[in-house]
Amino acid sequence: MSITVEPVKPQIGGIVHVSPDHLLDEETIETVRSELEKRGVLVFPQINVSDELQLAFTDKLGDRVNFTRQVPGSDAETADVYKITLDRKLNSEPDYVLGTFFWHIDGITIDQPLPKATVLSARKLSASGGATEFANLYAAWEKLPEEEKREIEDLTVVHCVEAAVRPVHGHPSEERRARYKAMAAVMEQPLVWTHEDGRKSLLLGTHADGIVGMPGPHGRALLARLQQWAAQPDFVYTHKWKEGDLVIWNNQGVMHRVVPYTDEGRVMHRTTIAGKEKPGHKADEANVERIYQIA
Ligand SMILES: [Fe+2]
Repeated sequence: MSITVEPVKPQIGGIVHVSPDHLLDEETIETVRSELEKRGVLVFPQINVSDELQLAFTDKLGDRVNFTRQVPGSDAETADVYKITLDRKLNSEPDYVLGTFFWHIDGITIDQPLPKATVLSARKLSASGGATEFANLYAAWEKLPEEEKREIEDLTVVHCVEAAVRPVHGHPSEERRARYKAMAAVMEQPLVWTHEDGRKSLLLGTHADGIVGMPGPHGRALLARLQQWAAQPDFVYTHKWKEGDLVIWNNQGVMHRVVPYTDEGRVMHRTTIAGKEKPGHKADEANVERIYQIA
């Protein structure tokens, strides 16, 4: 065996021991695929990949996708590698990066199959902050009381970028709102997603702005309660980065956020594996209007 996986917590997390020379082996790829379903997030401590090796690893796992191509400031030197940084020389508009301080699922406001997995490698760390937290949304569903499962099972949620960046700006200008609109779609997603393999997970995050058919405050209160439930310590793994670490997570069943940092030196390189399943669709305007009514 050239690969071993050490569990972190019963509900989430695995530490992968494999040398970079074996990262692209079929055995590694198969193990990563199955462990991602079970453990949600996998850490490759200080494996120190180049962009080329990270992309090759991404490509072995599926089709690569660059869903942030339309985000301002995201130009990268290597095609399909997105640099997550507050450094204005590398990323001219860090709004989107500041939005990562809050729980989210990557690419959930884009009208396309939900990205399957995200690969992130640490190139330069911040002096303080910057740990990434991951919460297992399969576990969050499975452990809900049966009565609550029945109450929420068929609900639909409106997700939008405007909600995702609301904690960044509070009151964005009209111009900014128009740009957010152009960046992504307003989507309706099931609150409880039944995947093709029959497993179920919650779809939650700061981009969730209301529940279809409910007045705004009622929907947001339920979403806030569920988000708090899903972020309980048993379901969460916090990764304190070391330079050279690579982390991959199952973006279809995990939400994540970063502990705030101000250091412009922090640089992470992200690649993304496309999903095949599309749980939601573009939102119906009348449904969206309803979530902005208060009664
Ligand atoms: Fe993210």
